[in-house]
Amino acid sequence: MAYETIIVEVEDHVATIKLNRPDALNALNSELLRELGTALAEADRNDKVRAIIITGSPKAFAAGADIKEMSEKSYVDMYMSDYFGPEGGAIVSTRKPIIAAVAGYALGGGCELAMMCDFIIAADTAKFGQPEINLGVIPGLGGTQRLTRFIGKSKAMDMVLTGRFMGAEEAERSGLVSRVVPAKSLLEEARSAAEKISEKSMISLLAAKEQVNNAYETTLAQGLLSERRAFHALFNTEDQNEGMSAFMEKRSAQFRDR
Ligand code: CAA
Repeated sequence: MAYETIIVEVEDHVATIKLNRPDALNALNSELLRELGTALAEADRNDKVRAIIITGSPKAFAAGADIKEMSEKSYVDMYMSDYFGPEGGAIVSTRKPIIAAVAGYALGGGCELAMMCDFIIAADTAKFGQPEINLGVIPGLGGTQRLTRFIGKSKAMDMVLTGRFMGAEEAERSGLVSRVVPAKSLLEEARSAAEKISEKSMISLLAAKEQVNNAYETTLAQGLLSERRAFHALFNTEDQNEGMSAFMEKRSAQFRDR
């Protein structure tokens, strides 16, 4: 499918979605978020794809929601269109693993998009921030909620109230990103993580993602029970048998998603 604001490439088992509005530092407008939702749904449906990478340019993963698109809108416009609500929902409903590979600015909606992915690999050039306060608004695509869960109240308040940016090293120390790599090897590192994921059983990948996400939605006791039941259920798969047999036979497992 042809897109205007993103570039999608599928190589081996990995779909790479590159945000592509270079003149606007990949600012997220409605069209980009709609196209991203469509591309993610397509990747979810494509049996060949086993992991997804979302990335931007060396200068910007995304510098936020598109201020030019939003600036003239009224409360009624925003509320009646549920601005970014359906688009955000489409991103987080993706079932396959998604890695955000972030270089440069990940601000506002850009930081929020990265946090909607399953984990973030950051280049040492990455700068995260929720500077909406400087525009007389607040984050609107999950920033106040997800950032607080990632880095805790004190740091989230600091970021959201002052609008300051956080560099890659601080982002890793704070738990926002899973690893920091040199900018020149960002895509290589993200691909290598995606390829490692691609070797696993898709059944256990989907189950693992569901259970980790469940940790944000439920009590500890319910989460532990839900995890244990999903763990039990996997004993009804051929891939569990293959994985454990391969371990005992000292060979690598050949999963078949059954
Ligand atoms: N929306 C629309 N256009 C943007 C943009 C955005 N969020 N961020 C950058 N651009 C555009 C600039 O307007 C500029 O375009 P023109 O050449 O046509 O003027 C182009 O991208 C390059 O940007 P700069 O010249 O500003 O580049 P810089 O290197 O000097 O500064 C920057 C980079 C610090 C990221 C700066 O562009 C900036 O502060 N951007 C806005 C960041 C921001 O406020 N993000 C939050 C948006 S609101 C939001 O995201 C709400 C939400 O939660 C859903």
